[in-house]
Amino acid sequence: MTFNNLMVTGGCGFIGSNFIRYLLGEEDFQGRIINVDKLTYAGNPENLSGVEEAYPGRYFFERADVCDAERMKEIFARYDVDAVCHFAAESHVDRSIRRPEGFIYSNIFGTFNLLEIARHRGDAFKLFHHVSTDEVYGSLGPEGLFTEETPYRPNSPYSASKAASDHLVRAYHETYGLPTTLSNCSNNYGPYQFPEKLLPLMILNASEGKTLPVYGDGRNVRDWLYVTDHCEAIWTIMKRGRRGETYNVGGASEMENIVIVEMICDLLDELMPLEGGAKRRSLITFVKDRPGHDRRYAIDFSKINRELGWSPKESFATGLRKTVDWYLKNRPWADRIRSGEYRRWMEEHYGG
Ligand code: NAD
Ligand code: DAU
Repeated sequence: MTFNNLMVTGGCGFIGSNFIRYLLGEEDFQGRIINVDKLTYAGNPENLSGVEEAYPGRYFFERADVCDAERMKEIFARYDVDAVCHFAAESHVDRSIRRPEGFIYSNIFGTFNLLEIARHRGDAFKLFHHVSTDEVYGSLGPEGLFTEETPYRPNSPYSASKAASDHLVRAYHETYGLPTTLSNCSNNYGPYQFPEKLLPLMILNASEGKTLPVYGDGRNVRDWLYVTDHCEAIWTIMKRGRRGETYNVGGASEMENIVIVEMICDLLDELMPLEGGAKRRSLITFVKDRPGHDRRYAIDFSKINRELGWSPKESFATGLRKTVDWYLKNRPWADRIRSGEYRRWMEEHYGG
């Protein structure tokens, strides 16, 4: 299946911007991309610098809130949108614990709003792909994997809001016959990730000799997925996935947080040794645990592998090296985010 006018929501964020770059480079997509992003603190147009010029007439940006029904209807009509790949969301668990409202608004109401508009587009509308998370399944003990049949048991306001949005997507397929697909994936890492998340935070702090705050005992486990592998999985599902189905996407890279932080320390010691041979592991500091901190996530991705032939290409060792290298080479990108310079630039260009 091919799409002519694909709306990508949240395209200025981490995964959305990687997805847009990935898709515009794919031969089997020759359509237009309409990136709809509200530009919250996490949305950075710089993540897509050069894209408009590299693909003339194929990339468009609209600054808009997916909760704004009138704006969304107008954008759907003006670009004759025939498919949506929905990334836009508040995505950080710690922020959802401090201030949940925005998560309910963007993640639940925003998804509902887009589904409503999509279902009124009629037969010309080809697909609503919803990008979701493994966190909807809750927490695992030492054994077992999340499958598509695992009951939902979200533990944070973030994961509860994503679970609600998943249920809406499912309901719109069952009730109205809207062509939908849904993917639930594990922790992504790679270029352009906002430096509040574990990997970029630790890489940047370690490179600057700052403290490395590890929550609790550091033994929580996540399954790490390189962002380009995720982009390829999404595109595979959009093209060939069965409508109305859910696909789990994982990286086959289960790691304890403390092991990752130690790997980052050792890699940086190798690439940019500290004076006198000091070791960055000494920067690791155990801090108060995250409330409701899920112990372990691990993904069974055999369905997408069996049905669509997808599996991750990047190992954690190679992906981490690429990621560290990217953050070191793109220090000005991170500095502009952390200094607030990019917010000032956005105020000038987009009025705040
Ligand atoms: P991100 O926080 O980096 O980017 C989110 C983007 O959405 C930002 O550009 C932001 O401006 C935009 N946005 C937020 N609210 C909006 C609204 N109301 N209207 C329009 N735009 C809005 O997030 P990410 O890490 O790239 O995650 C993207 C999606 O993938 C999210 O739905 C998230 O739940 C899901 N996901 C992320 C991961 C991960 O490891 N990062 C894993 C599984 C699933
Ligand atoms: O599993 C998919 C999810 O992965 C996505 O749905 C979320 O959008 C994404 O943010 C991510 O959620 P996590 O909470 O797992 O990611 P985070 O990078 O915030 O934390 C990863 C692990 O590291 C987690 O166990 C908490 C821990 N941690 C995190 C930070 C920021 C620390 O120990 N110290 C830290 O400073």
